[in-house]
Amino acid sequence: MEENLSISALSPFQLLQFYVDCGVDEVMGDETLDRTLIPEKILPMVAPSASTPSAAPLSGTVAAASAPADGVAGAIESMEEARTLAAAAQTLDELRAAIDSFKGLGIKRTATQMVFADGNPQARVMFVGEAPGADEDRIGRPFVGVSGQLLDKMLGSIGLSREENAYISNVINWRPPGNRAPDDAEIALSLPFIRRHIELVNPAAVVFVGGVAAKALLETTQGITRLRGKWTDFEAPALVQPIPAICMFHPAYLLRSPQQKSLAWADLLSLKNKLRALGVIS
Ligand code: URA
Repeated sequence: MEENLSISALSPFQLLQFYVDCGVDEVMGDETLDRTLIPEKILPMVAPSASTPSAAPLSGTVAAASAPADGVAGAIESMEEARTLAAAAQTLDELRAAIDSFKGLGIKRTATQMVFADGNPQARVMFVGEAPGADEDRIGRPFVGVSGQLLDKMLGSIGLSREENAYISNVINWRPPGNRAPDDAEIALSLPFIRRHIELVNPAAVVFVGGVAAKALLETTQGITRLRGKWTDFEAPALVQPIPAICMFHPAYLLRSPQQKSLAWADLLSLKNKLRALGVIS
């Protein structure tokens, strides 16, 4: 009998196996695109309607993360939903459940699992990175890949460890496909959750690891080279008092640019001094 070699004759599992055999083992986009359609039908331009004026500053960026069909109104709704869900969480477990239930982020669909946090939630110092990569997505914990190994060494050099006295999370809780950088809309929709996360942990000091976390949480356009090494205050509505915050280079950047490690070391020493002054470490 003649074998049917047509792709359409394959079961979904066989088709997936075929892709893997061809080396296609990454999801690169959040949405499946039908490239046979004319572009206007793939990503309709959303014109502000009378009921949704273009006044909301975040709407343009957030619209990009929501399903195109939702348009600006859907994006504003997602932003509101993120804020409401985050504010309602009274414990870390509730916050984790809130993030899991939030459907406004497309990257949730391509990620394997949520990456919430690691370390000791009672710790008095909290580190906030950018977004999970492939290793974190597989294991479900932040900073477990090569940059995480360097971060652990950096923490160890000033007497910190995630097992004992450090707590770690990310601005984004889901891996962006193909390890791309999170876009502005994804960051905007994730900010209410990471802000609430910091409020609930209420550490004595917070460290923003890398430019994405630093810019997003300090609401600045300045780059990490300018921001790093300077103490500032992190403020959020539910905090009784601001939390001292410092930014430092991301370990992934330090792996690519080892000549910058001396600056990272200076920042670590500054952190160590601050933690001593706050009575966090002896
Ligand atoms: N980079 C990050 O910013 N966070 C992780 O969890 C892993 C890599």
